[in-house]
Amino acid sequence: MSVVTIARIGEIATVTVDNPPVNALGLALRQGLWDAVAELDADPSVRAVVLVCAGRTFIAGADVTEFGKPPVEPHLPDLVARLEAAEKPWVAAIHGSALGGGFEIALGCRFRVALADAQIGLPEVTLGIIPGAGGTVRTPRLCGIAMAVEMATTGKPLRAPKALSAGLIDAVIQGDLLEGAVAFARAAIEQPLPLPVSARPIETPDAAFWLDAEKAVAKSAKGAAAPSRVLASIRKATEAPFAEAMEFERKTFMELRGTEQAAALRAVFFAERAAPRPAALRDVAALPLKKIAVIGGGTMGAGIIAAIRDAGLPVILIERDDDAVARGLANVANVFDGGVKRGKLTEAQAQTLRDDVTGTTDYEALADVDMVIEAVFEEIGVKRAVFAQLGAVCRADAVLATNTSYLDPREIAEALPNPDRFIGLHFFSPANVMKLLEIVPTPDTSPETLATGFALGRLLKKIPVQSGICDGFIGNRILKRYRAAAEGLVRRGVPIARIDAAMQGYGLAMGPFEAQDLGGLDIAFLQREGARAKGQDVAETLGDILVRAGRKGQKTGGGWYDYVAGDRRPQVSAVVAELLRGQVAAETGMSEDEIAAVLVGEMAAEGRAILDEGIAASPADIDLVKIHGYGFPRWRGGPMFASRSRI
Ligand code: 3HC
Ligand code: NAI
Repeated sequence: MSVVTIARIGEIATVTVDNPPVNALGLALRQGLWDAVAELDADPSVRAVVLVCAGRTFIAGADVTEFGKPPVEPHLPDLVARLEAAEKPWVAAIHGSALGGGFEIALGCRFRVALADAQIGLPEVTLGIIPGAGGTVRTPRLCGIAMAVEMATTGKPLRAPKALSAGLIDAVIQGDLLEGAVAFARAAIEQPLPLPVSARPIETPDAAFWLDAEKAVAKSAKGAAAPSRVLASIRKATEAPFAEAMEFERKTFMELRGTEQAAALRAVFFAERAAPRPAALRDVAALPLKKIAVIGGGTMGAGIIAAIRDAGLPVILIERDDDAVARGLANVANVFDGGVKRGKLTEAQAQTLRDDVTGTTDYEALADVDMVIEAVFEEIGVKRAVFAQLGAVCRADAVLATNTSYLDPREIAEALPNPDRFIGLHFFSPANVMKLLEIVPTPDTSPETLATGFALGRLLKKIPVQSGICDGFIGNRILKRYRAAAEGLVRRGVPIARIDAAMQGYGLAMGPFEAQDLGGLDIAFLQREGARAKGQDVAETLGDILVRAGRKGQKTGGGWYDYVAGDRRPQVSAVVAELLRGQVAAETGMSEDEIAAVLVGEMAAEGRAILDEGIAASPADIDLVKIHGYGFPRWRGGPMFASRSRI
């Protein structure tokens, strides 16, 4: 079947694009649209054309799978120009998303109309590129420079009503899109036509505007190259004639397409889309998830409850006594209050979210839930006792999950009569924000239970990654190696602050030592102490020396650094230097690039071991874990991608 079909409703022609799954602008579609313009221009019975798409969305952009290959004619900028020059006015009728090249096609049309829940945007920077078919040159002619800069440098889409008030679209359609768009077209041809977008005037901000914008973009990009290049392209559009600006944009697009950053971001794009639906589970039906319970309303439990409520499901919280129930519900309310404070929720929305969380100490309340997620203290005895109770009260097909970070899920499940429905679901803090969900089946976990874990991931809009059982699963195991390697550098004489600066320079929000000061050094210390108490041979770390001296991080006023009360900025510590004297070699001159190469290389080496042991299924899975759970810079593609030529 052709990806483009033409029909006629009186003097209005409709061009329907049907190129599943997302109507991406592959060669067949570009050619189909090119031919449609020619055919309809030649048809005297047609006065206007409505461009509409079948399936879940309008054209979602260029076909990203073509980016590794040489471009083939008709090129997208030429197609957009061809649309603009069409003798009959085209009306883009948008549902779902008009993104990147899809929005650029809409900009080539004389009019744009959209359903109220449709979104438009220029997400190219999230793929390490800039728009390549006029997005930076035409968009500011419709909405002004400030909004074009915001859209194209962040890649964030706009909903139709906002796009309408910004001038990016001409109408929001209520009811049936095609009917509304045809009616719009009929009315439009009775009026004088507006100029094509390329012929409209553009604002010319002063140098100070660009200076501020460059500063802001450099700060938020944290090392990603595309945002500042997109800014330069918009600036060019304000300073040069249309054709010259188009050429500049295309040249930048072609250059960035071939960069390491673009390759990394494309790899992440496809890995993220593959993660929620692993091939091995394609034929396994997940169990329905209508009602979920969470045991423990502390830091993690409250965040998990908030995430489930955000997905629209009711939640039951079980705590150990009435006071703890009240504290747990208050913790959950706090999460929603935070949403109100940050302007993400209205008070009424927050209230609805709070209302559907019930707290109790009575396990009988769990008789009809579909899934239970345990988030109680990290103690095997406490967890086993919880699962013994769950085994007694829950339906035989209810999925029972643990959020343990380090305990062996097999040992936790020993208390269960039917361990096939048991699974590890490892959330990351704050659980309503962090995208990563490690899914940890035991050898007894049934395929249906595993599929239900992934279904929960999809429901909560997480990035689910399956992990085998080992100390720390995928993410914390690599974290441990990374931290040990960072300590190794300190022992070799590399200053603590230089290591943190190197990793910040690499693109992480924080270096390894600053991050430990924020999270607290004591958790890992207690774990090592626990292992030592069991007779395991765990070497004394530099962190242990600090904790033994009372330095547990920011919460004790000092850890790897000193902190002045009320100020989170780390200060290099003479006390730490004194405590570590004798452990640390004389200062060495290692460059920041060398430091980052060593530490990322260590992460990748641990990743390799994880793959060899079958703990992770693919390097891409490991990269998703580090990007979505540990702040690894997305544009680097993850430690495995970044080190792929070296491992
Ligand atoms: N090219 C190729 N494949 C794409 C694609 C694209 N632009 N966008 C999505 N897909 C594929 C996905 O890989 C996935 O494939 P799979 O089923 O085999 O895993 C399938 O389409 C469905 O994608 P999602 O799971 O993301 O579907 P959703 O319904 O959740 O979301 C969407 C739909 C919002 C359109 C989302 O797919 C999306 O954001 N896509 C990317 C849009 C984008 O980045 N466009 C800009 C491209 S760059 C460009 O246009 C350059 C131009 O300026 C020259
Ligand atoms: P927390 O100490 O903040 O909360 C634990 C909660 O469990 C408390 O509210 C406590 O009252 C409750 N509880 C204890 N025993 C109970 C019982 N028998 N029945 C019902 N409730 C009980 O702990 P946190 O940080 O929320 O951790 C919970 C689990 O999540 C642990 O297994 C931890 O390893 C894991 N985890 C923690 C992360 C973190 O960053 N804090 C990240 C990922 C996992």
